[in-house]
Amino acid sequence: MNNAKAKHILILCYSYSGQTSSLLRKLTEGLERQQVKVSIEKLSPNKTIRFPFGDIPTTLKMMLITFFRKRVPIAELSEKCNREYDLIILAGPTWSYHPSGPVLSLFDRDGSRLFKGRTVIPFISCRGYWRAHWYGLRQKLRKCGATIPNLIVFTHPTKEPWRTIGVFLKLAGKNPEQSRLMKKVYSKYGHGTDQLVEAKRFGELLGQALSQGTSLTELNFKTPSAMP
Ligand SMILES: Cc1cc2nc3c(=O)[nH]c(=O)nc-3n(C[C@H](O)[C@H](O)[C@H](O)COP(=O)(O)O)c2cc1C
Repeated sequence: MNNAKAKHILILCYSYSGQTSSLLRKLTEGLERQQVKVSIEKLSPNKTIRFPFGDIPTTLKMMLITFFRKRVPIAELSEKCNREYDLIILAGPTWSYHPSGPVLSLFDRDGSRLFKGRTVIPFISCRGYWRAHWYGLRQKLRKCGATIPNLIVFTHPTKEPWRTIGVFLKLAGKNPEQSRLMKKVYSKYGHGTDQLVEAKRFGELLGQALSQGTSLTELNFKTPSAMP
């Protein structure tokens, strides 16, 4: 009989258009299959940001202000964030090459308290351009005193330039996947079904490593399915 205490993970996350959330649901399934306990804390903006932005000028404005790392104020975190965990997963989308506004606010207000001395794996959902986001996030986490053994990134599987055009149109409320001109080259916004399966597999890998006390650094999350 295994008497070892079950490992416990905190997932701190923000998702604007539901992509990070869908991947995290599968990741959680995988973790729980390995008997890892998962607590989830969703960052909640004080003012709702409607999805989609709805028109081209608003989308362009959002692209610009997020490029300059505009913060999105968030509600206080719940009490569960004060507990001890074996691992924290910090998850969210890339916004104009940076972490999203709610995650930036989280760092400003709670970063040192939350991440000092903690093991943190960033989890990024993006169209395809995640490196600057990752470097910035890693720097912020290190500054707070966290250890970062690995990184999980999922990029949208659609080919360029349709991926960029499609995301822009989707954010502007144009539903490119239903447009006569676009639907052949852009059939779906966001991540594919095989990526959800991969997220679950990642959860199992992570859960196994945590439960067995093996290295998190050695886990390979850079797979063709996650980053096609
Ligand atoms: C304001 C804004 C800016 C974005 N900028 C980028 C970017 O620089 N690079 C990228 O790969 N994706 C970018 N994206 C796309 C999102 O990262 C991508 O759609 C992600 O899967 C959304 O995750 P979510 O639904 O959890 O918010 C941007 C999205 C928004 C809303």
